[in-house]
Amino acid sequence: MGSRKPLTTIKLKKMKQDGVPISMITAYDFPSAILAQEAGIDVILVGDSLGNVVLGYETTVPVTLDDIIYHTRAVTRAATSCFVVADMPFMTYHGSIDTTLANVGRLMREGLPQSVKMEGGKEIAATVAACVQAGVPVMGHLGLTPQSVNQIGGYLVQGKNSAQAQKLIEDAKALEQAGAYAIVLELVTESLAAYITEQLSIPTIGIGASASCDGQVLVFHDLLQYGAESQPKKMVKTYANIGNEIRKGISAYVQDVKSRQFPQKEHVFQSEDWRD
Ligand code: KIV
Repeated sequence: MGSRKPLTTIKLKKMKQDGVPISMITAYDFPSAILAQEAGIDVILVGDSLGNVVLGYETTVPVTLDDIIYHTRAVTRAATSCFVVADMPFMTYHGSIDTTLANVGRLMREGLPQSVKMEGGKEIAATVAACVQAGVPVMGHLGLTPQSVNQIGGYLVQGKNSAQAQKLIEDAKALEQAGAYAIVLELVTESLAAYITEQLSIPTIGIGASASCDGQVLVFHDLLQYGAESQPKKMVKTYANIGNEIRKGISAYVQDVKSRQFPQKEHVFQSEDWRD
């Protein structure tokens, strides 16, 4: 298991002050969390991208609180020395503060992450403040917010005109003011991401938002090409193609079974005692 000391929100803020980049990756199960931890990742996000890359949904909208709790528990069993953040799913933090706190409480108690993440700006600032006051660290998420894809009208780069940019700057400041300890910036232009990063005392973690953010996050299945073959996304760098390796391995197994090459003698248990 992990031997490093887990990060804290205080250490994450210090990393920004010291100019130390923060590495974050998504993970949704025990083996991927173990591998991410062994590879030295700082923060694991149990993202609701789980809906797209693990559960086969078109969007993150159908992901439930129970789904996130189940997967977060698997990740936190593995990642004992990473800081684990779990996404609050669609509409689980938009009702009353009491309902939100009950949902956040369930995720924290049953999933055992160190923090939750919420999408949105000024409109959720009071919610963020209530969670922080209740002792739950909150990571914000601005720019392209996938839970609102039906309202945004697609996975589009955000902050390209001055009205959008102004709103993003105000949203980022409102989240910082509300007590968020970090903010994910997704699909935001480089100059705007750099400006927001400079304006905040809390770290920004970019995805498709340039190297001027204080850290970077990518989806596990994207950077490792794990899953059905798909068009690579501009914001993703492929670091390995484990999808190909898995396909090759399984197809060799199929060939061996069909040609009776597997199992061989070394895979088989021998005893004649049963004849006695
Ligand atoms: O759900 C997720 O994986 C995310 C990342 C894209 C930041 O929110």
